[in-house]
Amino acid sequence: MAYPETHRYPGQLHRSEAEPESGALAKVAVLLLGLLVGVLAVAAVLLWASARDARSDARAAAGKAAGATAIANPHDAMAGMPGMAATSSATASFAGAAPANAKALAAAHKPFPAALPAAPTGPVAKVHLGVKDVVQQIAPGIKYRAWTFAGGAPGPVIHVRQGQLVKVTVTNDGTMAHSVDFHAARIAPNMAFRDVAPGESFTFSFRATDPGVFMYHCGTKPVLAHIANGMYGAIVVTPTRPLPKADREYVLVSSEWYLNSPGLGQPASLDMAKAHAMTPDWVTWNGYAGQYVAHPLQANPGETIRFWVVAAGPSLDTEFHVVGTLLNRAWANGDMTHLQRDVQTVAVPAGGGGVFDVKIDRPGLYPFVSHSFASVDLGQVGVLRVGDVHGTMSH
Ligand code: CU
Ligand code: CU
Repeated sequence: MAYPETHRYPGQLHRSEAEPESGALAKVAVLLLGLLVGVLAVAAVLLWASARDARSDARAAAGKAAGATAIANPHDAMAGMPGMAATSSATASFAGAAPANAKALAAAHKPFPAALPAAPTGPVAKVHLGVKDVVQQIAPGIKYRAWTFAGGAPGPVIHVRQGQLVKVTVTNDGTMAHSVDFHAARIAPNMAFRDVAPGESFTFSFRATDPGVFMYHCGTKPVLAHIANGMYGAIVVTPTRPLPKADREYVLVSSEWYLNSPGLGQPASLDMAKAHAMTPDWVTWNGYAGQYVAHPLQANPGETIRFWVVAAGPSLDTEFHVVGTLLNRAWANGDMTHLQRDVQTVAVPAGGGGVFDVKIDRPGLYPFVSHSFASVDLGQVGVLRVGDVHGTMSH
């Protein structure tokens, strides 16, 4: 790969930038450096000591906080909520739980449609989100009591054009208050993102002024629980100024699932202690572990594939990476005014988005992952199949 002439690694100094040394000046410099080294050594010892004290303070504070939760345990407030476990300590990990027929179930699973749907024409884009409690599969044979927008997690992919007015209606057919927070909106959240009671509908509008890919999610407290239970999705706002041509466009939403049981027989519910500890049982692309391994996303050699990626979290970032290639173009943070070329991995923060183009000429199976590999082990892996290729891959 050819870097431009000016490319330098941070800290790498060009010869011409180094000060020429001579005679007395050099001696003074050596003396000052000697003094500086002494001062730094003392400072390092002091810093180490204060860090050690801070660590023991933190331990003491954590101990006190653990005591305090026994009195004001946030889980107690949720004990009466359906689909919410009132555990005060995390259950064991149920990562990788699978029935004997997991492979057949994975093959029979209908994958979440990752292809970017068309944006509506005209000045107004109408969006209806019907809130519904459902039991959904999050991995082969693993059932979860989810709270959803439109019957599944993630919620529907919304695609609008920059400048359109987005008219959102939330209808709450759930059993408690919910709301929807659009990161693509510049709007007073206390008005637009307000709680909608069960049985009620609420409509608000915002102008899609900013292009990119954004998260939307339920913003009702505790937000951690509402996102962890499945209330999130992606909205793509296509920029007015055309992007380079892409042959196929896919939307990927990453998210974690925190289970209070294996979910093999009875559906699992949220384990809030695990969610607080950020120790998921499953991490998924579009809600279901490994669904694009069993059902790869397709491309032809030489095509440009655009991934619109949102990290819904609720708490973990996604380090987007496609094994076997580089990201030809990367609009980090979904900032469509600025692109990076030929980068290997780009972080998508929880609650953020990114847009990534790959152009792969050689047929093969190219896994797309979060390169935070714990997430891969928990299910966050899919395959881009370039050409008519079959078989297995190494990741
Ligand atoms: Cu909600
Ligand atoms: Cu948010």
